[in-house]
Amino acid sequence: SVPADTVSLSDYERHFTARVDAATRAYIAGTGADGITRQANRDAYDRMRLMPRALRDLSQASAATALFGQAMPYPILIAPMAFHRLVHRDGERATAQAAGLTGTWMTVSTQSSVTLEEVAAAAGGPLWFQIYTQPRFEDTLTLVRRAEAAGYRALVLTVDAPVSGLRNIEQRAGFRLPDGIAPVNLAGLAPDNFTPARPGSPVFQGMLHAAATWDTVRRLCAETRLPVLLKGIMNPDDVDPAIAAGAAGIIVSNHGGRTLDTLPAVAEVLPLVAARAAGRLPILADGGIRRGTDILKALALGADAVLVGQPVLHALAVGGMAGVAHMLTILQTELEVAMALSGRARLADIDRSAIFEPPRF
Ligand code: FNR
Repeated sequence: SVPADTVSLSDYERHFTARVDAATRAYIAGTGADGITRQANRDAYDRMRLMPRALRDLSQASAATALFGQAMPYPILIAPMAFHRLVHRDGERATAQAAGLTGTWMTVSTQSSVTLEEVAAAAGGPLWFQIYTQPRFEDTLTLVRRAEAAGYRALVLTVDAPVSGLRNIEQRAGFRLPDGIAPVNLAGLAPDNFTPARPGSPVFQGMLHAAATWDTVRRLCAETRLPVLLKGIMNPDDVDPAIAAGAAGIIVSNHGGRTLDTLPAVAEVLPLVAARAAGRLPILADGGIRRGTDILKALALGADAVLVGQPVLHALAVGGMAGVAHMLTILQTELEVAMALSGRARLADIDRSAIFEPPRF
């Protein structure tokens, strides 16, 4: 049950830390290498100061928006995360129910611990499906067809993890998947039988033969009528190739600091990516969103919506479905408070002027 003192996302994290074993925590909170990027994500939002407008008419205030022609009550989605059953027996089913109850769209991971069909059956609202490309393109397509058949509304192709990051924190903690928890969507797909032509580096010659390229994006976009978003774009120079390949949206993300360490903070590159996109396609962002003010800042920097990752697993561990629904409601309310107190009645009113530019003395 959720302790009565749980009033913010950091409270969920605190209770999660007290309840969940160290190895599982190392997986969920673990970063790439030294965690510099993960800290940077947070520091960037914390350093930014908001600039309010006084006495504006807030009587018609609303945080509603739309993506791909579909209305959403808040610009908040659940980020794709593997293995929700690590922290709760109902896993992604419970998360999807909570998402539906609160009007939050959920992105289900390729590595979900409940099949994508079972998540869809439990869900009460729109779902997106995150794709990790498989060694054989046919197998990637199998996942796409299953997601289409189950009613998923968009595909999220993760492009920042052709190999896993250096998960030193997980390694030190000796994390391994417990019995009974597995990437069940991949059951039955062909194993990777690739043998390198010449011996050498296990990374360059063993793993990367199957890594996605712009050509993979083109093929994927040509194969599906669902919008395809690219998750893990950090460089504005990747915006035009994304559009040329047929992408319908971009998620600015450094994978919450779990892949390449010492990447910049999302807040630092988001304005550059948004400026390059110039409204041609929606820009989303994730990494370090923990408060309504963080959402307001991300929107001010050019995001159309944000995704939230780890807090979902914290709340799932502490309170199951009810915990996730409560956590999402807290975040929605915090965004409304931030909008009201900064004098921004609508998302369209949130632009760079919401961020204080300190004078240089
Ligand atoms: C992730 N993330 C992730 N991303 C993805 O594209 N596919 C995946 O399967 C996973 N799995 C995953 C597991 C866990 C435990 C975490 C914490 C994260 C990354 C995720 O989608 C998102 O980019 C970050 O989590 C966002 O940062 P915050 O909100 O967690 O700070």
